[in-house]
Amino acid sequence: TDTGTLGARPPMGWNSWNTFGCNINEKLIREAADSLVSSGMAKAGYQYVNIDDCWAEKDRDPVTGQYVPSRTRFPSGIKALADYVHAKGLKLGIYTSAGTLTCAKTMPGSLGHEDLDARTFASWDVDLLKYDNCNNQGVPAKDRYQAMGDALRKSGRDILYSICEWGANDPWLWGKSVGGQMWRTTGDINASWGSVMSILDQQAALSPYSGPGGWNDPDMLEVGNPGLTVAESRAHMSLWSLLNAPLIAGNDVRSMPAWVRTMLTDPDVLAVDQDWGGRQGMRIRDDGDQEVWSKPMSDGSVAVVLLNRGAAAQTISTSAAELKLPEAKAYTVRDLWANTEAASNGAIRAQVGSHDAVMLRITPGTTTALPPLVTVVVQPSAP
Ligand code: DGJ
Repeated sequence: TDTGTLGARPPMGWNSWNTFGCNINEKLIREAADSLVSSGMAKAGYQYVNIDDCWAEKDRDPVTGQYVPSRTRFPSGIKALADYVHAKGLKLGIYTSAGTLTCAKTMPGSLGHEDLDARTFASWDVDLLKYDNCNNQGVPAKDRYQAMGDALRKSGRDILYSICEWGANDPWLWGKSVGGQMWRTTGDINASWGSVMSILDQQAALSPYSGPGGWNDPDMLEVGNPGLTVAESRAHMSLWSLLNAPLIAGNDVRSMPAWVRTMLTDPDVLAVDQDWGGRQGMRIRDDGDQEVWSKPMSDGSVAVVLLNRGAAAQTISTSAAELKLPEAKAYTVRDLWANTEAASNGAIRAQVGSHDAVMLRITPGTTTALPPLVTVVVQPSAP
């Protein structure tokens, strides 16, 4: 989790948009904060509670020009919400657009008001700004995002800057230079296998552009949302963690079933997301429906996702050599979802269900007590 420097590790938290859209209010945000704590998600690292679009009145204050929080849905104001969230040990995120209006067009954007708005957010003790790209009047993206980056820096508060430019103008090339700690690489995710796979494909070439202080953002999680099966959610969570993605949960954390909470808080999987071994996850093999993704870990082990995009279960194989692990007599293969360990001579095989993934961490060396690896079999979790 974030300690000290902003964005030192991929930010983790929750955001209202994927489940609630514009249907938000201060009670929901407080309940989301409560649930992050009571579910154990906060302890697992989910720190930011992020309000997305539709939190403000349509008009700015006629005298000060400041944003006015919705009088009906945020009557206590944003500062009171920040105090509530901070008292729980969490951080508050807010949203606007680098345009004249936000995407939902229910409230003004910050284009031309960057300094005032950054000062306002700072005065409310906000900790993160997600800055969208709608209604941008054709002003070049880099200029618009630079203006807010400068304003945030001058605001006097550490506000994590989440650039939501949808990858339209290659923000991975300039996001860090304008002060961003993360930048969206694609259009919006939705809770479908097609969306998750299409976003994944758009990450394949971006591995050189992410790292501590500035992360590629393949968009928020849809884990646990209607539209994805348990297996599809597991593949999504495995892959986003392998990519060192910011992990911003997008489900209704107030009412999630046990399997969703367990999936979102798996310590071995989150450890992969939060570890920096010099490179985000990469696709190292693409055999039609079978893919192998790998990521170096800082301790010399390698994290692996074996992905089955096909309609039927199949065996996917890889090897220590393909994973560029140093030569060793034996390797420890840990199945990060099943929490089992086995010894391997370097050959790795797993039975992977349809639209599912097996996630492994492979370390050179072994203790003799480990059973030999035959085939890793992923057990479908109970829905
Ligand atoms: C587009 C963004 O990409 C989404 O994540 C969300 O913030 C919506 N806009 C809100 O209108």
